[in-house]
Amino acid sequence: MGKSRKFKEQKPVEDIEKHYTSEALVKKLVELVPYSKTDFVVDCASGRNMVFFNNFKTDNKEFCEIDLQKDFFEFNKPVDWFITNPPFHLCWKFIDHASTLASKGFAFVLSSNSLLSLTPRRLTILRNRGFEITSIHIFNVKKWFGRYYFVVFEKNKKSIINWLEGVW
Ligand SMILES: C[S@@+](CC[C@H](N)C(=O)[O-])C[C@H]1O[C@@H](n2cnc3c(N)ncnc32)[C@H](O)[C@@H]1O
Repeated sequence: MGKSRKFKEQKPVEDIEKHYTSEALVKKLVELVPYSKTDFVVDCASGRNMVFFNNFKTDNKEFCEIDLQKDFFEFNKPVDWFITNPPFHLCWKFIDHASTLASKGFAFVLSSNSLLSLTPRRLTILRNRGFEITSIHIFNVKKWFGRYYFVVFEKNKKSIINWLEGVW
């Protein structure tokens, strides 16, 4: 008879869409965005922790959070910047909506999968609206699932990446 093996009790799978970002990381990320103190800046997926919102160095700011009855997809004011860690499964919907309202740019934390959802077709849609990717910072978050990307899109600025349209 073989020895009985003890397995560690499995932790419940956490909801990745509700993962909160550490304040130390948020402080670094917010510094990477070229917003000014007079800009109107919106944290469009603030969580209950409001960690991005609390770290915007401007009083001209607002937040959306579905759990607080403020749905980003019902938000339709013009803003200068959107900055947040959005729910990854809605990443393209967030980028698409942000790009119809932002006058200067938007900067989002993306997972590897949500980065891959930026297809040539979608990047072309954003380019036609005037938005280009101007920086990507890659970082590790041990308590999530590995690698993440802080992607800044700016209006009427030079792109750091390019792509080929069509299917090859
Ligand atoms: C990954 S969490 C990030 C929370 C916080 N920004 C942070 O970085 O710690 C994404 C948040 O987006 C919220 N959310 C999901 N859909 C939303 C929507 N349509 N409008 C606003 N917030 C939404 C979720 O409830 C969740 O709190």
